[in-house]
Amino acid sequence: MTSIHAQRRARLAAQLGPGGIAIVPTAPVQARNRDSDFPYRHDSYFHYLTGFTEPGAWLVLRADGHATLLCQPKDLEREIWDGYRLGPEAAVAALGVDEAHSSAEIDARLPRLLENTGTVWFPFATHAGLAARVEAWLAPVRARARQGVLCPAVQQDLCTLLDEMRLVKDAHEQDTIRRAGAISARGHIRAMQRSARMLHAGEDVREYHLEAELLHAFREAGSQFPAYTSIVAAGANACVLHYRADAAPVRAGELVLIDAACELDGYASDITRTFPADGRFTGPQRALYELVLASQRAAIAATHAGARFDDPHDAAVAVLAQGMLDLGLLDGSKVGSAQDVIEKRAYFPFYMHRTSHWMGMDVHDCGSYVEPGEAGQTSEAQDPVTGQTVTRRPSRILQPGMVLTLEPGIYVRPAEGVPEPFHHIGIRIEDDAIVTGSGCELVTRGVPVEPDEIEALMRD
Ligand code: GLY
Ligand code: MN
Ligand code: MN
Repeated sequence: MTSIHAQRRARLAAQLGPGGIAIVPTAPVQARNRDSDFPYRHDSYFHYLTGFTEPGAWLVLRADGHATLLCQPKDLEREIWDGYRLGPEAAVAALGVDEAHSSAEIDARLPRLLENTGTVWFPFATHAGLAARVEAWLAPVRARARQGVLCPAVQQDLCTLLDEMRLVKDAHEQDTIRRAGAISARGHIRAMQRSARMLHAGEDVREYHLEAELLHAFREAGSQFPAYTSIVAAGANACVLHYRADAAPVRAGELVLIDAACELDGYASDITRTFPADGRFTGPQRALYELVLASQRAAIAATHAGARFDDPHDAAVAVLAQGMLDLGLLDGSKVGSAQDVIEKRAYFPFYMHRTSHWMGMDVHDCGSYVEPGEAGQTSEAQDPVTGQTVTRRPSRILQPGMVLTLEPGIYVRPAEGVPEPFHHIGIRIEDDAIVTGSGCELVTRGVPVEPDEIEALMRD
């Protein structure tokens, strides 16, 4: 493990430029209420470079590769209450850094470390108050100018370098994402089967019963946290995009949309499945489900090295647009052809989100969605829905090792002209894809998507 992080630090150091220095804090402990804290989650950038999960830690990396760690000091009394601390002395060997000190010394040590450097890199947007702390550390360096001490004249956003590094996942990261995906898939199967089992037994099923199955599967397999707040949406709740698992009844004859997945060893997964609560799709449910599934198939086929990030979305939208006309969600005599539906974004009332996002340490992972070498190639267009002028840039060219979700959906709220059998149906199907040279590897298919296969596993 340490060698992976040391290699990453070396790659980052090589990009800091002559006299560059990087400051990387981990995440703060967050209070929940009164004296209870939220479960602690390290900062993803910090973890990427150290593998260290304790709070109160900092990495300072010089362009020559020299790494200094500041971490919580050993403190027997605090350790009795809060648990084991690695401490600076053991950190040098355990984390492979060049030196380590108590984080209590940070305000004394940082000015020294910043002396005679040229550019100071730190994350600009992810740590409130960090820029002010850097300024405070630079003040004593500036004050020593008359003694010939150089103060860095340039401040740069470290995320611009780390985002690019994190965008392409190495073999170790891909393996962790695969394992997270497999655990999450088992959670979805448990939830589907619980729903059918309880309904067949005539029991009162609530969304929280299904969430409990997910959480059980995640934790039982060693996952530390859900990767994001679980959505378990019964019936019409599926049309609320950011619905949370709550207490609504899960009724036979309705669909359940679950968007939930675990985080494992710092890496997310992200799965959505939509299934009939009692294990049997109705005709209208299956018709809409087949359409979303066909659009996801098109998105999968469009995902390969050399394709653009926007290609899976465009492929999914093309299928959805035609399907909305075929099923009568859209009236062709009013909106025209599928091409017109796409150009006017007439599908928007039923499909209002994008098909993909990067996924990795963060469920919505970092990394530019614009191809860096083509960022200057802009074109202006008028958004057909808002009427606003938008500037477009060529989207990212996919490379092997990038990881993205493929998650088309359809959400039908009652409206005039919308066939009644489709009202209140919300469907999304979401899998996580690792881009390969020839296509992509779906790491979340431990839970099926084919309607017959879902019905079969809910019968068992
Ligand atoms: N679960 C968050 C998302 O699908 O983007
Ligand atoms: Mn997602
Ligand atoms: Mn999701």
